[in-house]
Amino acid sequence: MVKVLAINSSPHMKKGLTAMILEQFLNGMKEKGAEIELFYTSKLNINPCKGCLTCWFSAEEKCSQRDDMDIILPKIASADIFVVASPMYVDGITGQMKNLLDRMLPLLDPYVELRNGNCRHPVRNYSKPGKVVLVSSCAWWKVDNFDSMIMHMKAMCANMGREFAGALLRPHSGAMAYLQATGGDMDDIFNALRASGQKVVEKGEISSENLKTILRELVPLDQ
Ligand SMILES: Cc1cc2nc3c(=O)[nH]c(=O)nc-3n(C[C@H](O)[C@H](O)[C@H](O)COP(=O)(O)O)c2cc1C
Repeated sequence: MVKVLAINSSPHMKKGLTAMILEQFLNGMKEKGAEIELFYTSKLNINPCKGCLTCWFSAEEKCSQRDDMDIILPKIASADIFVVASPMYVDGITGQMKNLLDRMLPLLDPYVELRNGNCRHPVRNYSKPGKVVLVSSCAWWKVDNFDSMIMHMKAMCANMGREFAGALLRPHSGAMAYLQATGGDMDDIFNALRASGQKVVEKGEISSENLKTILRELVPLDQ
């Protein structure tokens, strides 16, 4: 069974716009039999990394801090698909999500190896080389507002020995809220989200056609 760990870092949690996208994507994965766990960073207590490197240089190879990362880290290590869901905050993921990603350092060894032509830290052998899917929404109209976030997720995957499987992105998210409140038609978007969930479980990939539908224009730029 495909194990999915989804973490949503929107403070609006399930009432937010990021959740509106995430929910349909997870529904698609569920339909194909995936085992899904969903967490909200707002309900977790995850402190920032202290940079002490206890996780690298102590005998236990464990973080020095005892908080909810004790629950989340083993779930990231064993997930076939890790869904990073975050609204765009000042051109990147939220601070809460960044804190969580920084705390993934114990999944790596301090040594250095050459991987795909880059110096990298080897991934500790209890951590699966799973896939990562980014789910995000942002207020600005253009999809290129997500460029910095996508670049970050791709770099994070290369660093952490994971595979970037794609990004489900919803620009001008306010229009999505408006259309939902006024009965506007977004069925094609929700169907593409569900289809993406099904496909990533079945084939480990997301079709570019579906990704295009998910981020389609909802209102013209000049409006
Ligand atoms: C602190 C803050 C920073 C934001 N920064 C950006 C930004 O840089 N670019 C953008 O397009 N939207 C930005 N937004 C808007 C949110 O990304 C957008 O409303 C998003 O859909 C909210 O998702 P949620 O309802 O799941 O929390 C920002 C919102 C907040 C509260």
